Amino acid sequence: MRYQASADCLKDKIILVTGAGDGIGKAAALAYAQHGATVVLLGRTVHKLEKVYDEIQNNGYPDAAIYPLNLEGATPKDYEELANTLKGNFGRLDGLLHNAAFLGANTPLQHYDIELWFKVMQVNLNAPFVMTQALLPLMMDTPDSSIVFTIDDRSNAYWGAYGISKSALQTFMTILADEMDTDKPVRVNAVLPEPVRTGMRMKAYPGEDPNTLRTPDTIMETYLYLMSNDCNETGQTFKTLE
Ligand SMILES: NC(=O)c1ccc[n+]([C@@H]2O[C@H](COP(=O)([O-])OP(=O)(O)OC[C@H]3O[C@@H](n4cnc5c(N)ncnc54)[C@H](OP(=O)(O)O)[C@@H]3O)[C@@H](O)[C@H]2O)c1
Repeated sequence: MRYQASADCLKDKIILVTGAGDGIGKAAALAYAQHGATVVLLGRTVHKLEKVYDEIQNNGYPDAAIYPLNLEGATPKDYEELANTLKGNFGRLDGLLHNAAFLGANTPLQHYDIELWFKVMQVNLNAPFVMTQALLPLMMDTPDSSIVFTIDDRSNAYWGAYGISKSALQTFMTILADEMDTDKPVRVNAVLPEPVRTGMRMKAYPGEDPNTLRTPDTIMETYLYLMSNDCNETGQTFKTLE
């Protein structure tokens, strides 16, 4: 899709980004801040989040906030606390980008390590579910709020728990969007990114020359569109440009 984001298309919005310390999440956090949003940087590696925080501040964008959380071990109580913190500090939540993910291992299902399966499902599927459930009341009280999932389409051999969790996340998105026909709807959509140069991509494709790939900051049009009030679509999956 093509979207020409205006400089202030996210002005005054509060947007939470998971996995904001690296790759696509980092690029989205910077793009959202550049377009006027206050971004809550959620992730597990604090020094990476601090680097993004500094970059936002050095560019003169609205001050960001850091929220360290390891999605692998987070409990429903942690998400309740997250919701209370956001409500207490900002009074609302306009945008939620579920982006953090764990690759696990590329092995046949027959031999997939069971512990690893649970970890991948915890980070990629269970965490977005529990976080969404905890944050929905706040988002439903915020007009024009938007939930976005970064998905993937790996449904061939050896993609194991990662491929299955990402397909499930897309179904989660469509079910949630369908349920949002309330008097306080939240837009719910997914982005299927083209291959971009990130740590996860390099791990998944070790033989690929990363320099043949675009960088995450070049695919931000779709991410900006879905968070902006210019978007009134819901229940859709958007591909970034190839
Ligand atoms: N790159 C691509 O070509 C591509 C294509 C299709 C879909 N995607 C999707 O894009 C999203 C971002 O991936 P990426 O390519 O940008 O990879 P990435 O650079 O490795 O970023 C993944 C992010 O998730 C965070 N994360 C992982 N486990 C976590 C946990 N337990 N708790 C909290 N945060 C955790 C990582 O934090 P740390 O930095 O602390 O590890 C990192 O910030 C993923 O959902 C992926 O499935 C990527």
